[in-house]
Amino acid sequence: MKLLIQNGRVVHPVTGTVLLQDILVEDGKISLLERGITLQADQTINAAGLAVCPGLVDMHVHLRDPGQTYKEDILTGCAAAARGGITSLACMANTNPVTDTPERVAYIRQRAEQGCGVQVYPVAAVSMGLKGKELTDAEALKKAGAIALSDDGNNVDSANLMRDALIRARRQKLPILSHCEDTSMVAGRAVNEGSVSRQLWLEGRPAIAEEIMVMRDAMLAEETGAHVHICHVSSARSVDIIRKMKKKGVPISCETCPQYFSLTEDEVLARGPMARVNPPLRTKKDVTGIISGLKDGTIDVIATDHAPHSVDEKTRPLSRALSGMIGLETSLAVTLTALYHTKKMELPAIIRRMTANPADILHIAKGRMSMGVDADLTIFDPDEEWVVDPLLFASKARNTPFTGRTVKGRVKYTIVHGQIIYQDTKQ
Ligand code: DOR
Ligand code: ZN
Repeated sequence: MKLLIQNGRVVHPVTGTVLLQDILVEDGKISLLERGITLQADQTINAAGLAVCPGLVDMHVHLRDPGQTYKEDILTGCAAAARGGITSLACMANTNPVTDTPERVAYIRQRAEQGCGVQVYPVAAVSMGLKGKELTDAEALKKAGAIALSDDGNNVDSANLMRDALIRARRQKLPILSHCEDTSMVAGRAVNEGSVSRQLWLEGRPAIAEEIMVMRDAMLAEETGAHVHICHVSSARSVDIIRKMKKKGVPISCETCPQYFSLTEDEVLARGPMARVNPPLRTKKDVTGIISGLKDGTIDVIATDHAPHSVDEKTRPLSRALSGMIGLETSLAVTLTALYHTKKMELPAIIRRMTANPADILHIAKGRMSMGVDADLTIFDPDEEWVVDPLLFASKARNTPFTGRTVKGRVKYTIVHGQIIYQDTKQ
């Protein structure tokens, strides 16, 4: 089976170039990458006017399976990923039961085989039941196929437990993905501490709750030599801490999500619970800090933190609604709209943070554009405008704060191992 992609603008995330090249795919791998390929293929895609990049890698996704499949399941989550141009994803351990044993890691991998082809990499819990008391068996979890450890959704409150976890994770060469928010400062609170929490007469989740834990985990990474990856950075000061720690050579990396560089806490006033997320949307100053972190490479990754919830769970009053927003089907478009079309970042630099960088952190051989690699590819029109309508999503969930927004950038084809797993049919 030969697939030929012609006339595309091929984005090379690591060299930082965009080249007019054709791509020949044979047996699921890129076999030729050059200008003007004239070979006969079984299938040809004319990518004139489109960008072609390595398949997007989303390292922070909640698939809710097992246990909360009324919100999402592995198959619908994968279908949503494919629509968003995502070919590989890491799914978080806060399922029910928690993904804290090898059997549960194996379940996720087996179920994903029945999906549309998106590759699913399970993240296992740091602590049994995400309770923060007893460590999971990192070695057994790795053997079963876990690619990282995380109690995401919860902060690991005990510094002692986190330190032990890092020492063990280091032996297994597993990164720990850390949700940083000091529980004692955020429990039961819905929005950022600031002008919006004051207007609403609510206690807020202060940015310092995040920053204090970023600092702690960076220090633990420095001391143990283990790789800490900070999840969903939302505050400018977190970026500053990580920048300094990286300069010192501390083994730390981090991600942010589209909502943290395109929305502020004011969105809560406009959208109510749809804009409730942990960590919370913050201020303009934070958005500016996040964008400068993305530009200078302090922030390695753009991930979604796709967190599906039911309509009921998101239409309660703000203080009782659940936290989280979906992102798989809007991530590329929202990112291009906020960073590329505003000329803040070039295409290869953006794509690098959605491909090669997360792949490297997770030690998976993805996210590169060269001969011999897996033909996981995303083809998109960076300039096509569309209006976000969650009723059209493949996800079971509808909880996005971007409903009704005009965004620019549309996925046209998603390809895994040379197979087209999603094609945009709208002309
Ligand atoms: O808002 C959030 N929702 N933040 C998290 O860290 C977890 C997530 C969820 O699982 O719903
Ligand atoms: Zn989280």
